[in-house]
Amino acid sequence: MKITPKDLYLQRRRFLQLGAAGAVGLLARGAAAAKGAVHGEKLAGVKPMSKFDTTEKKTPFEDITSYNNFYEFGTDKEDPAANAHKLVTKPWVISVEGEVKKPRKYDFDELVKMFPIEERVYRMRCVEAWSMVIPWDGFPLADLIRKLEPTSRAKYVAFETVVQPENMPGVKGFSGIGFPYLEGLRLDEAMNPLTLLATGLYGEALPKQDGAPLRLVTPWKYGFKGIKSIVKIKFQETQPATTWSQYGGGTEYGFYANVNPDVDHPRWSQGRERRIGEFLKRKTLPFNGYGDQVASMYAGMDLKKFF
Ligand code: MTE
Repeated sequence: MKITPKDLYLQRRRFLQLGAAGAVGLLARGAAAAKGAVHGEKLAGVKPMSKFDTTEKKTPFEDITSYNNFYEFGTDKEDPAANAHKLVTKPWVISVEGEVKKPRKYDFDELVKMFPIEERVYRMRCVEAWSMVIPWDGFPLADLIRKLEPTSRAKYVAFETVVQPENMPGVKGFSGIGFPYLEGLRLDEAMNPLTLLATGLYGEALPKQDGAPLRLVTPWKYGFKGIKSIVKIKFQETQPATTWSQYGGGTEYGFYANVNPDVDHPRWSQGRERRIGEFLKRKTLPFNGYGDQVASMYAGMDLKKFF
């Protein structure tokens, strides 16, 4: 998320590809689609429609899978689609640790069978000021947490991404952040009905570049909270260290990272965003439009401070 001249160039190029209605735009888009659109296994028995769904136009599968942030595979938007096929996702073990009555390791195939999979069509707002509408498939994190029975000392949940240096070219190269990628939520945020553990999108198993086999989705927060390819879930009393809140000496990204158009990033405005595929920028909404579901969790907190 460190915006370099190259990022700006790529973003501009991508914007032209997606925004232009002419033949050149369509051709360029076809090329991007061919690169990103590896379809996964169809998910069976997905419960359609949730009361939290947005009816806004969904971002095409090709764009969701070819314009990504997954620094383990490189810092350019095209890198994850080009490199993530190397990620080994079978077998996949998720370790549940810390302040929980039932710490244990879960095989992904076992975990995913424990809960009905539902579709959730959510907005995703990246801190870089672009956004998408993504039809995720997954299950509420709250359903898992209830089964795990956190102890009374559990106040936060920490998450960790896998590190496979031999398969992840970005782990060895310079990206400006350390690995493993770390994220965290307060326990009440983790229990919020909006918070999803995604196992798919568009009714298909999650593409590797989007965080296969299991990633976090918190639609009222900036996209970087959506940690990908999770291998550890730890319940703890103290606020976990997170990758981006440590970046730049902690001056650029906060732990809470709730979408807030009134608090600018030190280097760019958060007031507006570019929906991928659209020409004109649109206004960014507080809590990314999910205030009714989440604002009460932050009552009494200085929202400007808790970016
Ligand atoms: N998770 C890991 N492990 N590594 C990353 O670099 N990038 C984050 C988040 N999760 C990232 C990650 C950022 S900055 C964003 S905006 C979203 O993933 C992007 O998700 P997408 O590529 O599926 O759109």
